[in-house]
Amino acid sequence: MIRIDGVHVRHKARSGGLFRRDAVHALTDATLEVRRGEIVGLVGESGCGKSTLARVLTGLQKPTEGEVRFHGRDLWAMSAAERRDDFGSAVGVVFQDPSTALNPRLTVRRILRDPLDVHKRGTREAREARVEELLDLVGLPGHTLAALPGQLSGGQRQRVAIARALALEPELIVADEPTSALDVSVRAQVLNLLVDLRERLGLGMVFISHDIQTVRYLADRIAVLYLGRIVEEGRAADVAGAPAHPYTEALLSATPSLLETTERIVLTGPVPSATNPPSGCPFRTRCWKADDDCATAFPAATSGPDGHRRHCVHPQIPTSPVPSARSTA
Ligand SMILES: Nc1ncnc2c1ncn2[C@@H]1O[C@H](COP(=O)(O)OP(=O)(O)O)[C@@H](O)[C@H]1O
Ligand SMILES: [Mg+2]
Repeated sequence: MIRIDGVHVRHKARSGGLFRRDAVHALTDATLEVRRGEIVGLVGESGCGKSTLARVLTGLQKPTEGEVRFHGRDLWAMSAAERRDDFGSAVGVVFQDPSTALNPRLTVRRILRDPLDVHKRGTREAREARVEELLDLVGLPGHTLAALPGQLSGGQRQRVAIARALALEPELIVADEPTSALDVSVRAQVLNLLVDLRERLGLGMVFISHDIQTVRYLADRIAVLYLGRIVEEGRAADVAGAPAHPYTEALLSATPSLLETTERIVLTGPVPSATNPPSGCPFRTRCWKADDDCATAFPAATSGPDGHRRHCVHPQIPTSPVPSARSTA
């Protein structure tokens, strides 16, 4: 459905003097595919480029280099109108914080009708009916339509944001840490809603989180990002069940699931600057396996079964076979 190839995003550094030309390497040489109906999870620490990748996948960010293809069509070779009409209606976005993502001066009814009006979907009556349908889809009561976002709880606001993302019947939803601004008590409900919607509507989804346990529970495939690079990618059961990259191992051990008895790996030292990333493997400054070989070049992908790719000079070799069913941990 959507495929990015060799995508780089570099920003001008916010700091740096007037004559400095430092670039922030927000995303480096990213290649990723999202197939129809599947959930791809993106994980990594804050600042590793998850939101940048989300913005590339939703057409909000033009890559500095590389290609974005939607059903084989080059997104940035389309006219602005085609990109808005064909692509814009096929991809919905849910952001982290629903209190800033929704216009506080518009009622929920207006918020949900706005994309339908902009894209001129159906008659006036059809749009009104669609608004009610959307509200129902996300499990909100009818009286919510007259409310302003400020009158709703965080969880309800995020449901409105999800309904808005679904308004144009997208093929893909990109959800960028959709629960991290919410109370712990409502997080599971919003996650379950997303899973349920994906099942009922056959949506593809890119689900972003800094928590690999959440991603592992939701996703069919996982891509792990570190300092702007995808360092490991594959089926969720493989990546979370038999991580090949030390960074993935460290992420898993930081929030162990109840069933595992792995020793905790504590990462020491800061994440290096994205303005001046280390040569070779970006993780080598914090990696307990790193040696001189890791400093020369970013390791090319080595592939395991089922398209499990990892970029590591010293990957962990799985000791036991991984069951082929989706991880249920
Ligand atoms: N508009 C911007 N200008 C300069 N730097 C940016 C901009 N947007 C993001 N960055 C930088 O790019 C890197 C990746 O950011 P981001 O994609 O937001 O990471 P994440 O979502 O994983 O926390 C960070 O170092 C961030 O500071
Ligand atoms: Mg982010």
